[in-house]
Amino acid sequence: MYKINPNFSALSRRYLFSMIASKVAALKEARPEVVIIRMGIGDVTLPLAPAAVEAMRAAVGEFSSEETFHGYGPEHGYDFLRRAIVDNDYRGMGIRPSDVFISDGAKSDTGNIVDLFGPGNVVAITDPVYPVYVDTNIISGRDIRYIPCNAANSFTGDIPEGDVDIIYLCFPNNPTGAAITAEKLSQWVRYALDHGSIILYDAAYEAYIRESGLPHSIYEIEGARQCAIEFRSFSKTAGFTGVRCGFTVIPEELGELNGLWERRQGCKFNGASYISQRGAEAIYSPEGKKQVRQAVDYYLANAAVIRQALGSMGLEVTGGVNSPYVWAGTPGGMASWDFFDLCLGKAGVVVTPGAGFGVQGEGYFRVSAFGSRQDVEAGMERMKDVLDRI
Ligand code: MLT
Repeated sequence: MYKINPNFSALSRRYLFSMIASKVAALKEARPEVVIIRMGIGDVTLPLAPAAVEAMRAAVGEFSSEETFHGYGPEHGYDFLRRAIVDNDYRGMGIRPSDVFISDGAKSDTGNIVDLFGPGNVVAITDPVYPVYVDTNIISGRDIRYIPCNAANSFTGDIPEGDVDIIYLCFPNNPTGAAITAEKLSQWVRYALDHGSIILYDAAYEAYIRESGLPHSIYEIEGARQCAIEFRSFSKTAGFTGVRCGFTVIPEELGELNGLWERRQGCKFNGASYISQRGAEAIYSPEGKKQVRQAVDYYLANAAVIRQALGSMGLEVTGGVNSPYVWAGTPGGMASWDFFDLCLGKAGVVVTPGAGFGVQGEGYFRVSAFGSRQDVEAGMERMKDVLDRI
C-alpha cells in the first residue's frame, strides 16, 4: 500500500496564485460582464524582446534539417549561453561558465534546490515571502524560522541571533519591492561565513534596480562565492514567463554543491530547450539589451503610477522604485483577503493579498506593475472609487 508524503497536509490548501486564479474564474463565471484588470500575479504583458523572437525563429529553423537538428542538449545548459551570462551579468565577479546552470526558470530552481540539503537543517525564510521557498521546505519536512521584514528593518530582515543553516533572501524583494544595500547584504554574507550557512539568493528582479550603489548580484559582496547560490530569470526582463528560461549560479568555491546540483539535474532534468536558450542568448546582444531596458522602464513607469495613486488614497506605500511590485497597507488595516475580495468584487481589480505571502503580510496587499499603462491607470481609478465609498 503506497503512503502519501504526510508533509503535504501542512501546506495551505492551494498555492497562492492558484487560489487567486480560481477566485477570479468564479467571478468571471458569475458575472461575465465584469472586465477584470489583473494586477495580481507578476506576469508580463509586453511582447517578447524582438531580438529573442528573431533568434528563436532561427533556432526553430535549425530543427528542420538533419545537418542542424538538435536532440538532447547538455542538462546544465549550452556553453554559448553560460558564457554570455558570465560575460555580461558577472563580469569581474570571479564567476565561471561552469558555475552557471541553465534551467526552465527561477521558480523550479528555487524549489528544487532543497534536494541538495539533508534533514536537520534550520531554514531561515524572510516573511513576507515568495511562497515557493516556504512550500518546498514544508513538502520536504524542514523546520522553518521566519525572519520578519517590516518598515523597522527596511523590509530587509534582522540578522538572526542564533544559528541557522540555510537562508533565503530575495532582492529586489518579492513581494515588498524592497531593495537591499551593499552594507546590509554584507552583514548577511558575514553571518553566513561565520556560521557556515548557505544563502539562497533570488535575484530574479535585479534588472529593476535603478538607484545607483545597490548590488545587482550577491557576488558583488566579498566572500559571497564561499556562501551563496544565486538564482536569476529571463521572465521579468525579456518577457520569458511563457518561454521558460532562467539560471542558477553555484560557484565552485561552494565545494561539492556545484557537483551535486550537476548530479541532481542530470538525473531529474533534460535541460531548457535549445530554442529558449538561443532566445536568452540574444538578450545579451546590444539590441537585446536595449529592448529589455525599454520593457523594464515601461513597467517601472507603471509602478510609479501605482505608487502615486495609492499614496494619494492615503495608504502606506513602499516598493515600486527598484521593483515591479508595490506593497501597500490596506485601508484601515482591513484583513488582506477581505481587501482582495473587495477589490475584485466591487472594482474587478485583482491584487495579491499580503497574507498570502506570510503572517507579516497581513494588513498589506501587493500590486504588480506588469500590466498595460491603460490597465494600470484604470485599475487605480477603480480602486480609488471603491475606497471613496468605504
Ligand atoms: C509573483 O507574482 O510573485 C510571480 O509571478 C511568481 C513567479 O514568478 O513565479
